[in-house]
Amino acid sequence: MRYKQFGKTGMQVSEMALGTWGIGGVGWDSNPEETRLDAVRAAVESGITFFDTAPAYNAGAAEKVLGKALRDMGARKDVVISTKCGNEYVNGGYVRDGDPAKILRECEESLRNLQTDYIDLYLVHWPDPNTPFEATMDALNRLKKEGKILHVGVSNFSRQQMEEAGQYCEIEAFQPHYSMVNRGSEELMRWAAEQGMGIMTYGSLGGGILTGAYRTLQHFDPKDNRSRFYKHFQEPEFSRIMALLEKMDRFSADHGGVPLAQIALNWCAAKPFVSSCIVGAQSRAKVAQNCAAFDWELTAEEMALLDKAVEECLDA
Ligand SMILES: NC(=O)c1ccc[n+]([C@@H]2O[C@H](COP(=O)([O-])OP(=O)(O)OC[C@H]3O[C@@H](n4cnc5c(N)ncnc54)[C@H](OP(=O)(O)O)[C@@H]3O)[C@@H](O)[C@H]2O)c1
Repeated sequence: MRYKQFGKTGMQVSEMALGTWGIGGVGWDSNPEETRLDAVRAAVESGITFFDTAPAYNAGAAEKVLGKALRDMGARKDVVISTKCGNEYVNGGYVRDGDPAKILRECEESLRNLQTDYIDLYLVHWPDPNTPFEATMDALNRLKKEGKILHVGVSNFSRQQMEEAGQYCEIEAFQPHYSMVNRGSEELMRWAAEQGMGIMTYGSLGGGILTGAYRTLQHFDPKDNRSRFYKHFQEPEFSRIMALLEKMDRFSADHGGVPLAQIALNWCAAKPFVSSCIVGAQSRAKVAQNCAAFDWELTAEEMALLDKAVEECLDA
């Protein structure tokens, strides 16, 4: 595994963070709880020190699995946990709520779920248009003063929203959607990194499509995140991504058959404005395969070649 400083927080994190949306047990392929616990154990054993979760991942279930696995291994103090607030999972849907009293309650619940007395990094999951940022950020300042959270960040915010919210509480981390198949936030990420924020990308495998596991259009349940959240699995995007995968296949063949997921993760991690790539994986085998990406690196020439392939396939 490789490690980087996480912005100006003083924390060092692994360049791959384990994402736990799937580990929560809904919205993705389903696996027994023991398999999902084992994915967390495999991550710790592979040198991952950064874990991303949220109460919205099946109403606290992901936090509970993560908390249990880390406690059983005695690994809590050795890792950085990022969890979130202001986005609730209710009756199979997601509801944004930045109300300060709600956030104070949510934080207590996350601490219980995670079996810990502090959260290293606490992110506002999505901006809530119905609550002034000042109120939300004041609640986060209070939690920081009480030592319940150590650092504050945001996810899915625009620059304007970060600038406004940042007037009330220091924002030390930004979590955007970013991968070879979603580069829309690149300018914003560069700016956020220049402000000293740690940058953690989500959907780093394009919801799984960059692994090459899907070569024909699939039908996913409307509640599956591959139909409701990631648009890569639908036309016209799907065919463009398939053209990119063909180029990645050729790259893989020239590099001893290295898995496509490892190419995608190295591409993401090599971007200078990225601190850590979050990857959702529910099993030991997938975690191990993804971690092996960090045993090798892309050269500048290889990065240029892949950037060109991405532009040719996706920007045309
Ligand atoms: N802030 C936000 O709004 C936000 C939004 C989305 C995600 N996130 C965070 O970012 C994390 C990562 O994003 P994501 O999980 O949505 O998408 P992702 O990491 O791009 O892709 C996850 C998918 O890839 C599959 N996968 C992983 N490694 C694989 C491998 N080696 N071979 C084949 N398939 C593989 C997973 O399979 P299995 O599930 O079957 O293991 C899952 O279907 C989330 O878990 C969550 O922590 C945050």
